[in-house]
Amino acid sequence: MKFFIDTANLDQIREAQALGILDGVTTNPSLMAKEGISGAQNILDHYVRICEIVDGDVSAEVIATDYAGMIAEGERLAALHRQIVVKIPMIKDGLKAIKHLTSKGIRTNCTLVFNAGQAMLAAKAGATYVSPFVGRLDDISHDGMALISQIVQIYSNYGIGTQVLAASIRHTMHIVQAMEIGADVATCPLDAILGLLKHPLTDQGLEKFLADYNKLNG
Ligand code: E4P
Repeated sequence: MKFFIDTANLDQIREAQALGILDGVTTNPSLMAKEGISGAQNILDHYVRICEIVDGDVSAEVIATDYAGMIAEGERLAALHRQIVVKIPMIKDGLKAIKHLTSKGIRTNCTLVFNAGQAMLAAKAGATYVSPFVGRLDDISHDGMALISQIVQIYSNYGIGTQVLAASIRHTMHIVQAMEIGADVATCPLDAILGLLKHPLTDQGLEKFLADYNKLNG
C-alpha cells in the first residue's frame, strides 16, 4: 500500500520523506490555508516546493467549480510539475473535467467522495485516484471504512484501474484497516504515520537489551 501524507506543511513533508516510506502528498485548500499560503502565484510555487521534496504524486486541488474553469486550472496545475495530480471535486462539472483531463493524459484525483455511486462515476470518467473520506463519514456516525471496503470490492468486480485512496484518515487504526481491506493508498496526517512505529513492548525490549549490554560493557 502507498502512504501519502495529507498536509501542505513543508517540515512535516520533509520529516515523512526522510523516513524513506513516503509515496506522495495530498493537499486541499484548507490545508494550504492552514499554512498561510495565499495568492495564486504563491500557491503554485508551494506545489512546486512540495514536488521538489517528495518522489511521488502530489495532489493539487482546483478552486474553480465550473467545467471550463476546472479544465483551465487543471491544465495549469499539471504543467507545474510531472508529479502533480489534479484534484477535482465530485460534482457534475467535475466529472466532465476528469473525463476531459484524462483524455489529455493529465492524472486526476476525484475528491469529496462519500458513496459507492460517486466512486463508480469517478472511475468511469477515468480518474487516476478516488478519494473516499473515511473520517468525515465516521464523524456523522457512518462507517467510513465500510465505504472503502465496498469500493475496493466493486472496483475488483469490474477490473477497474482507478486507485482507491483512503482519505480523511484520522489515526493509525484507520491505516491498518485500510491495509486489511486492500486500499491502494492511505493519505494520513504525520502523527498517524508515526503512530505506526509505536509499541510499548518495542520500547521495553530495547531498554532491556541496552541495560543488559551495559551491565557487561558499560
Ligand atoms: C485528502 O485528500 C483530503 O483532503 C483530506 O484527507 C481530508 O481530511 P479531513 O477530513 O481530515 O479534513
